[in-house]
Amino acid sequence: MKTYVVGNWKLNFTVGEASIYLHKLSKSLPNYRNLEVVVAPSMLALQPLSLQVDRRRIKLAAQDGFYRDYGAYTGEVSFSQLRGLADYAIIGHSERRYVFKEDDKTIQKKVAAALRNKIKPILCIGEIESERAFGETADVIKDQLLGGLAEVADDNLSKVIIAYEPVWAISSVKGAKLASPDEISEVINIIRQTLSDTYGPESAEKVSVLFGGSVSPSNAGAYLTIPGVNGLLVGGASLILHEFIDIIEIAKKVQA
Ligand code: PGA
Repeated sequence: MKTYVVGNWKLNFTVGEASIYLHKLSKSLPNYRNLEVVVAPSMLALQPLSLQVDRRRIKLAAQDGFYRDYGAYTGEVSFSQLRGLADYAIIGHSERRYVFKEDDKTIQKKVAAALRNKIKPILCIGEIESERAFGETADVIKDQLLGGLAEVADDNLSKVIIAYEPVWAISSVKGAKLASPDEISEVINIIRQTLSDTYGPESAEKVSVLFGGSVSPSNAGAYLTIPGVNGLLVGGASLILHEFIDIIEIAKKVQA
């Protein structure tokens, strides 16, 4: 199975800065087999970067996309417009859920629209701090997971990547804490069990599950060795090129 290292740049970098970063990243990456390095630039940078990127080495992801293919939706970019530019799309990131108030219904339509347009969704799920404190983590995870996947046909399941991102561990969240490998492992098991109960063990096994939340070179190794974790979704540390490269190197070592 592949290991994923995905850099979510969020609302950072001008088009020029993004292009320079990509150039430098590309120069310093050996051609790793079975390691999928993905960066998610702004919508604006996606198009020029798609012309620049060597897709054998680095893939591009959109940070979002709209579920209708065209029409009167001012300000939106559809997955049909992203088709061919991005191989992946982050969908249901906690910032989309909590800042932009996206619900599971919207997210499931986006997951379906991405797949319809040959873009692999990276479906983000994760509980907020109070949900964890009230013992609701398992229910929240199951609801977000099955809600997001509701329109995915069984034979498309293996094209979806799940990212577990506890919201309380995301570096930009006030008072963020590091998630421990035990805490992560417990939720990864819930995700895998839910997939297995819903789609059957064989289909569930083919789904890649990533972890995200304050990932850095100092914890990447520990997170990547948690059973059932196939990669990392990196926010803040992906903005610092040498840290992102360090995380990629660590992923390579863990895989070897
Ligand atoms: P972080 O962000 O690595 O800065 O915590 C992760 C994310 O929000 O995807």
